[in-house]
Amino acid sequence: MKGVLITFEGPEGSGKSTQIEMARQYLSKPGRPVILTREPGGVKVSERIRDILLDVKSAEMTNECEMLLYMAARSQLVKEVIAPALDAGKIILCDRYLDSTLAYQGYGHGLDLDLIRRLGRFATQGIVPDLTLVFDLDTAEGLQRIRREKDRIELRSLAYHQRVRQGYRKIAADESARVKLIPVEESKERVHEIVRGYIDQALKL
Ligand code: TMP
Repeated sequence: MKGVLITFEGPEGSGKSTQIEMARQYLSKPGRPVILTREPGGVKVSERIRDILLDVKSAEMTNECEMLLYMAARSQLVKEVIAPALDAGKIILCDRYLDSTLAYQGYGHGLDLDLIRRLGRFATQGIVPDLTLVFDLDTAEGLQRIRREKDRIELRSLAYHQRVRQGYRKIAADESARVKLIPVEESKERVHEIVRGYIDQALKL
């Protein structure tokens, strides 16, 4: 039995957490387990790494250290949750995955993309999502949508977040079979309809 991995991606304030929850409700049926998880985090060790990564007190953290910590959190989540769930034939919805590291640490910080891909294969055991949805919106608008106190990553400059957005757009253009770019519109119901269309295709519903 082989499960399905669907990842939700996008810059800050794109509403992807709302969309992943709507997708979970859409897919959940008796006898069809859906696992919802997130990166960085999802399991105890990775949630602890998340705290270090997002804490504004981690101000001295180098870009290299940051990238490796995201990978470390990922390898733990994949081994503990994602790989076994796929083996058990489950549907997994993951809020962010390796494309986030390509966008934020690769395109955002300028770290070597091929190195990230190689380390990514190691951290993910080569598990590539069956479908990746990237929620795309104007960078300044996305940052404005954050109402709570901003974390270490969110506090970065507009230029940094614009590079992240362009990175996602490049990933979607390069890997159009797997990665679908979804323009974020006013209505979350309309965005959800588009999400459902892609999910139905991927799951052959
Ligand atoms: P979240 O706000 O969507 O929960 O994600 C946490 C933050 O971590 C977000 O600002 C994006 C960032 N991030 C990276 O920079 N690289 C990564 O590999 C991942 C998974 C997240």
